Amino acid sequence: MSKILNFYLNGNPVEVIAKPEQNLLELLRDNIGLTSPKCGCNRGDCGSCTVILDDKAVKSCMVLALTVEGKKVVTVDGLVKGEELHPIQKAFLEYGAPQCGFCTPGMVMAATAFLLENPTPTKYEVKEALSGNLCRCGGYDKYTEAVLAVSRGEFGPVLKGSEINV
Ligand code: FES
Ligand code: FES
Repeated sequence: MSKILNFYLNGNPVEVIAKPEQNLLELLRDNIGLTSPKCGCNRGDCGSCTVILDDKAVKSCMVLALTVEGKKVVTVDGLVKGEELHPIQKAFLEYGAPQCGFCTPGMVMAATAFLLENPTPTKYEVKEALSGNLCRCGGYDKYTEAVLAVSRGEFGPVLKGSEINV
């Protein structure tokens, strides 16, 4: 039976009806109309649906919608402050990482959550952190270099958990 679900989406309280069998990705895209999380596989393999749930990157297709009651969900849309892109977004653009862009929102969210946990990673750690996010264009090196540049502060201060988890 469908239920009323309340949670925070990019800092705003949301009330929406969800079905028990729906995953968070379907809830965001189909019920709320927020299409930035992409559906590449809908089975946890590709990472294109990655969002941040209470400061942790999750594959939203693997999260039952009803389990986010009272929690804080951030999508790539929530990282932009006014006209100002998040440092990860700036770096991805500067390094020419996105090609088709389909994987990019998920990459942004995975990288952002990763830097919250590990602000000064090694190259290996970045590669490992992004290993669950597939890019069919093969742009892994550019994504990795961009994340390392952000960690060096080349694109400004990275938002902290309390700032991103609005
Ligand atoms: S759509 Fe969620 S991991 Fe592929
Ligand atoms: S930029 Fe093409 S799939 Fe990632």
